[in-house]
Amino acid sequence: MATDKKITIPQLFEMKARGEKITMLTAYDYPTAVLMDRAGIEVVLVGDSVGNNVLGYESTVPVTLEEMLHHTKAVRRGLKRAFLIGDMPFLSFNVSHEQAITNAGRFLKEAGVDAVKLEGGEEMAERVKALERAGIAVMGHIGFTPQRASQLGGAGHVQGRDEERARELLKDARSLEEAGAFSIVLEKIPWPLAELITKSVKIPTMGIGAGPYCDGQVLVTHDVLGLSGLSLKFAKRYVDLSSTIEGALKAFKEDVKAKKFPTVEEHSFSMPEDVLKKLAP
Ligand code: KIV
Repeated sequence: MATDKKITIPQLFEMKARGEKITMLTAYDYPTAVLMDRAGIEVVLVGDSVGNNVLGYESTVPVTLEEMLHHTKAVRRGLKRAFLIGDMPFLSFNVSHEQAITNAGRFLKEAGVDAVKLEGGEEMAERVKALERAGIAVMGHIGFTPQRASQLGGAGHVQGRDEERARELLKDARSLEEAGAFSIVLEKIPWPLAELITKSVKIPTMGIGAGPYCDGQVLVTHDVLGLSGLSLKFAKRYVDLSSTIEGALKAFKEDVKAKKFPTVEEHSFSMPEDVLKKLAP
């Protein structure tokens, strides 16, 4: 049932408990954030995927904390109801607890997020604990973690098909839960493993390329809207905005070249005749 009340972590837990799916999408700007709230999306992530989708980088690795804060502030201004998460970019949390708390703190104090997300499993459990102790809610992210793409066999490599990696991912999820993470993203893992992980933790799991049995579903909005140019097995394109926008841009160009836009009657401002007469040579 849609209400105007702000989404909270206890509500996300209640949704898991009653089997109601949680929806989560990325946003990088104010107008998209406004539409997210209007559509009733419960969780909005300012993902470091802003790097590929908006900033023109080839991966998420070059994205800086300052860039993330800039986009997160814009999204914050557009949201009233959705739960807002800021994604910690590569090397903004990996060095030390102090570094992670300082940088995550900036997401809360300067950009007004409700929580941060960071990539990593068991090896990040102590970091998550330190953040939680500092009063910062953390969403984990395991499976295919784009910031470590080269270590994981390249972009798009499905994780956990073999027993050893599957056991690692199960352990990662339990370690993050024990450390106090309030939720975990499961990216590109086989659906039966995602189902197993979802059943073995009490915190909500958010799948992307992890099948239908996670507690919620997250996608990159540019994939949903047909703006990324990607055709991904695990995503669903609901509209082809690239074609729509390109068509509109071409139509504008044709109108201007053909002198059909602007017209005096429809798109221009008049002025009093007597003033005009005074100006004429
Ligand atoms: O940056 C991002 O968009 C993400 C999602 C894929 C979960 O981390």
